[in-house]
Amino acid sequence: MKHLVAPSVLSANFANLQADIELINKSEADWFHVDVMDGVFVPNISFGFPVIKALKKFAKKPLDVHLMIVDPDRYVTAFKEVGADILTVHLEACTHLHRSIQNIKNNGMKAGVAINPHTNVELLRDCIADIDLVCLMSVNPGFGGQKFIENTYLKVSNLKKIILETKSKALIEIDGGVDLNNYKKLIDCGANVLVAGNTVFGSQNPIQTISDLKK
Ligand code: DX5
Ligand code: ZN
Repeated sequence: MKHLVAPSVLSANFANLQADIELINKSEADWFHVDVMDGVFVPNISFGFPVIKALKKFAKKPLDVHLMIVDPDRYVTAFKEVGADILTVHLEACTHLHRSIQNIKNNGMKAGVAINPHTNVELLRDCIADIDLVCLMSVNPGFGGQKFIENTYLKVSNLKKIILETKSKALIEIDGGVDLNNYKKLIDCGANVLVAGNTVFGSQNPIQTISDLKK
């Protein structure tokens, strides 16, 4: 499978979001990565339902919504209503992760599970068969533009092994500090989806940068 690229809207220009949505629409990007932060699970607040609803109106590609919030179960239906296609919750925020995954699927979305840099991939083994996407955080969640954590390569390889052993169809997504220097090695280790915020929107030519990340 050819890998996917999901530019992170967190690094877009919020004063002219529509322009950046059109940019992603006409680029080779596959998904919109949409980061929701509540100021409790992570030390930052991003945006919520009204912004995602507006984004959905113009986006011509799936919305990959990454919830960095406590008690995400309360909002699963609401995220479906504003247009999420893939909904990712954090393992560290779910007491009953298996139930949360089923809840997302019952609401007609693909189910993702994100894990923080300190969380061992083995914790996913018993529910990996039910997961559509694993989001490996390669920075501590909360902010764009942070430095990539090198231990991520090992985590990708270990997770890939679990996926193959269990015959799971889960995709491996890497989120945080992905750039033109590390993306190839990530793919070689088994990554399927690259999230990129600062690398795309901080570049001179975001369309070209997305195209480079697709190579
Ligand atoms: C971090 C977010 C990321 C972030 C990635 O908490 O989950 O999706 O936007 O941004 P970059 O690519 O700049 O690290
Ligand atoms: Zn994210």
